[in-house]
Amino acid sequence: MTEFSDSSRKPTSIVAIGVGNRMRTYMHYVASHPEVARLVAVVEPDSIRRNAMADQFDIPEKYRYKDYRDYFKNPVEADVAFICTPEREHFEPCMEALRLGMHVLLEKPVAQTYEQCRLIDRAAKKAGKMVSVCHVLRYHPAFIKVKELVSSGKYGRIMTITHTEDVGIDRMTHSYVRGAMNTEAGNNPMLLAKCCHDIDFLVWLTDSNCKRLSSFGNRVWFRRENAPEGSATRCVNCSIEKECPYSAIDLYWRRRQWINNFDVPAGMTLDQVLSKELDEGVFGRCVYHCDNDVVDSQVMTMQMEDGSLITLCMDAFTRRDGRSTDIKMTHGEIVSDGVKIFVTDFLTGKREVYDFTEVCKQPFHAGADIKLVEGFLAAVRGDASTELPTTIADSLRSHRLCFEAERSRHTGTTITFTE
Ligand SMILES: NC(=O)c1ccc[n+]([C@@H]2O[C@H](COP(=O)([O-])OP(=O)(O)OC[C@H]3O[C@@H](n4cnc5c(N)ncnc54)[C@H](O)[C@@H]3O)[C@@H](O)[C@H]2O)c1
Repeated sequence: MTEFSDSSRKPTSIVAIGVGNRMRTYMHYVASHPEVARLVAVVEPDSIRRNAMADQFDIPEKYRYKDYRDYFKNPVEADVAFICTPEREHFEPCMEALRLGMHVLLEKPVAQTYEQCRLIDRAAKKAGKMVSVCHVLRYHPAFIKVKELVSSGKYGRIMTITHTEDVGIDRMTHSYVRGAMNTEAGNNPMLLAKCCHDIDFLVWLTDSNCKRLSSFGNRVWFRRENAPEGSATRCVNCSIEKECPYSAIDLYWRRRQWINNFDVPAGMTLDQVLSKELDEGVFGRCVYHCDNDVVDSQVMTMQMEDGSLITLCMDAFTRRDGRSTDIKMTHGEIVSDGVKIFVTDFLTGKREVYDFTEVCKQPFHAGADIKLVEGFLAAVRGDASTELPTTIADSLRSHRLCFEAERSRHTGTTITFTE
């Protein structure tokens, strides 16, 4: 395996494992920085995705693998692994990559249990390699600004934070009701799948450990018994489809939203793919007749060691898809909707506005996805001039709270941390 010092002199070699939406995003950076990084292998079961990525980077046939297990049985040498597989397939490839002595850029959440997260942390320490989890909010200009304002000392200390994750009904029905993230066993509980970013952000903001937490949540609405009269198991057969805000026909066909995941095979048009999906695929199902078991609303409250109190609310039933954070401090208030930040100084009464509207129009989460890859590769190459990536220790800290919040939700207890 190439050693750390070598990789600072030549492009860092990368194996891409799981070539879906996230990997395609991260590869934009690699494609435009050949002096920094070089893709050497593509691992992806879907032949359309595998070959499209491999063709773009001129990867020879023998380095196009169908599954990470095939790759690790017969690996081509690489400095780092980018792992963007579905959530249930993070632990094994990450451990294998560390075993081979690679640094890992790992999509969130780290793994499906806290014990697996700890094993990854231990394996990384033993191998002396970095595992960085893609907590994209830490690279997002508007969220970095909130952190800067909180840490400036100008507004005193945090008393309470009310943070809302508005999932939005389109994302909710696509990913968490009809789609691949709709079951806890097949994927993860919502709090990990969607809110591990939020909890990481909140822990980052307070820079304090959690003392006690509790959580409540259920799957209340997207259930069979709530199917309205006249509805059918598929939207194409539904007599009230036009009156339903969750219609798959409206989302994919009329509004053309959330269609990036539908690959168009050679010889087919997008319309044909969408029509087939609505007629036969999982995304054509009625939201009240799916196999989903993840919650559709959840709250979590935390008392931190520094005395601050945090409330996190995961809301599926919003038109907006975004986050808002309301921070009450001893000497001022900071209110952010993820785009604009309003700050009020109690002493002067002055109100300042930081407007990220234009920045947020930039692709790839306002450029944060690209900064994340840039930061990770810079750290691998020993270049300290770029922002350091989030460490596995950071993720361990926030993931633990997600797992414990789930324990609280299931057992109806308040969790107290003693260490
Ligand atoms: N950081 C973020 O902001 C963010 C946003 C969205 C998703 N994610 C996370 O990124 C990960 C991937 O999400 P996505 O939206 O790109 O999903 P995706 O379905 O588009 O991509 C996952 C890819 O992995 C492939 N795959 C499945 N099994 C595999 C195997 N055994 N070996 C190799 N490849 C395999 C799939 O075929 C698919 O192409 C998930 O963990 C998800 O939670 C993170």
